[in-house]
Amino acid sequence: MTTGMYPQVRMRRVRATAWSRALHREVRLDPSDLIWPLFVTDGTAVEEPIASLPGVSRWSVDQIAIRAREAVGLGIPCLALFPNTQPERRSEDGREASNPDNLMCRALRAIRDAVGDEIGLLTDVALDPYTIHGQDGLIDEQGYVRNDDTVDVLVGQALNQAEAGADIIAPSDMMDGRIGAIRSALEAGAHTNVQIMSYAAKYASAFYGPFRDAVGSRGLLKGDKKTYQMDPGNSEEALREVALDLAEGADSVMVKPGLPYLDIVRRVKERFEVPVFAYQVSGEYAMIEATVAAGAGERDALVLETLLAFKRAGCSGVLTYHAAHAARLLGA
Ligand code: PBG
Repeated sequence: MTTGMYPQVRMRRVRATAWSRALHREVRLDPSDLIWPLFVTDGTAVEEPIASLPGVSRWSVDQIAIRAREAVGLGIPCLALFPNTQPERRSEDGREASNPDNLMCRALRAIRDAVGDEIGLLTDVALDPYTIHGQDGLIDEQGYVRNDDTVDVLVGQALNQAEAGADIIAPSDMMDGRIGAIRSALEAGAHTNVQIMSYAAKYASAFYGPFRDAVGSRGLLKGDKKTYQMDPGNSEEALREVALDLAEGADSVMVKPGLPYLDIVRRVKERFEVPVFAYQVSGEYAMIEATVAAGAGERDALVLETLLAFKRAGCSGVLTYHAAHAARLLGA
């Protein structure tokens, strides 16, 4: 780095005009950086607004296909799907996750019919939308989530999603060894080109509340997820998690939540030089919307600034509930 002394050096020279600021800008945000999470619900022609996520709704399968067409038009390259499983289909062992006609699979097929290969489809692997206890895996009598038995079920869930047309399998469960197990099953099942984006560094965060409303697991969940999701005080551990998932065959890794963990994004990017994604999670979205509702900030600027921060930190892309809004702003 070369630098001199004032007044020969004036940092403000290049900031003086809009054209010069544009010329010197280091990172840019583009609709192709965005992954749009969508919630699927049962029925036809249904839109269910989610109170704790103002502006976000659950959509029935037919409506999801319309959202997918909208996303293609906006230049968004990928959707992430989450089901709000019907209560009568939830069980102790979450077996609905492996049903080829579950909401997720029906949504995958409907989107494929509507837009073909024009958009990537990412599916979440974890049992929380399917269990009656809201945990991401199978629990023992003490409520402890059993690792190895859960991995077996997750493999079935991932294969089920791949058969229905998922392009990217995204395990969000934080079980040990699940990336390797899922990768092997995909290879054996002729899904060699199905990617894995691992939620490698996923923290036990207070920012997931509105998401749990959206998938209907909030009222069911007793306790917390601290025996499998990471402690917010740790970052060395995040690097180990990422190293393991890459060794097991992850194509890309994710850090989650987003903004409070940009230091993790940066450390992972610098250490591993692999595609890193971040999830601007439901509580982060809700914080922005609450700021706007309180008259304390302006939505468009908050959305674009926070998303740009992910790019600056080293992200290849961001999962955000503001994806369609941001893509519209960027396309305008
Ligand atoms: C499920 C899952 C969660 C999120 C994504 N996948 C919630 C959780 O772990 O409890 C959170 C996403 C968000 O808050 O937007 N394992």
